[in-house]
Amino acid sequence: MEQIVFVTNNEHKLKEIRSLTPRTFRILSLSDVNFHQDIPETSPTLEGNALEKARFFHDRTGLNCFADDTGLEVDALGGLPGVNSARFASDHDYYKNMVHLLELMNNIDNRKARFRTVIALIINDKEYLFEGIVNGHITREPRGNNGFGYDPIFIPEEDTRTFAQMTLQEKNQYSHRQRAFSKLIDFLQASFS
Ligand code: IMP
Repeated sequence: MEQIVFVTNNEHKLKEIRSLTPRTFRILSLSDVNFHQDIPETSPTLEGNALEKARFFHDRTGLNCFADDTGLEVDALGGLPGVNSARFASDHDYYKNMVHLLELMNNIDNRKARFRTVIALIINDKEYLFEGIVNGHITREPRGNNGFGYDPIFIPEEDTRTFAQMTLQEKNQYSHRQRAFSKLIDFLQASFS
């Protein structure tokens, strides 16, 4: 069985990725490999941050790994919060960030937005990038209690519910992270079968 480390401290992301992983692969968490250092995230792009996180871990352990970086890009705000999604109003406070975005969009009718995930994979010392996008729109108020981050205010264009009103399996059908991760899995299966 192939083993690979997911470089994240976000339990929600780990749960989502594990739910998408075929049985022939095993996703290890940072605590599974006893890695407890803070992972830097200082780049102005999603690609840069995903690579920075994966390289930080790989440089210190030599283990095969991948990291993701995700942004919510709102058309009417010129792509904001984008790479600053985690710290838009307040560092990693999902509720404050969501309320800040809704307030900024109070008088805006164009609600179009998309989630974009970039995954950086480092395997056998080589680097690869995979992208996943889901288009949709921002609601006027939060709906649903599932998921995390901006899930309660994002409706993918294929559905009428927010991600937070869906089960994990339903979100997986459309999600940016699923779309990027399935490209990674296809790549690994083609390279190592
Ligand atoms: P990160 O930098 O990739 O950890 O993600 C930045 C921020 O985007 C997170 O703090 C969340 O607020 C948000 N985010 C990332 N992925 C998702 C998702 O799948 N649903 C909703 N919000 C997300």
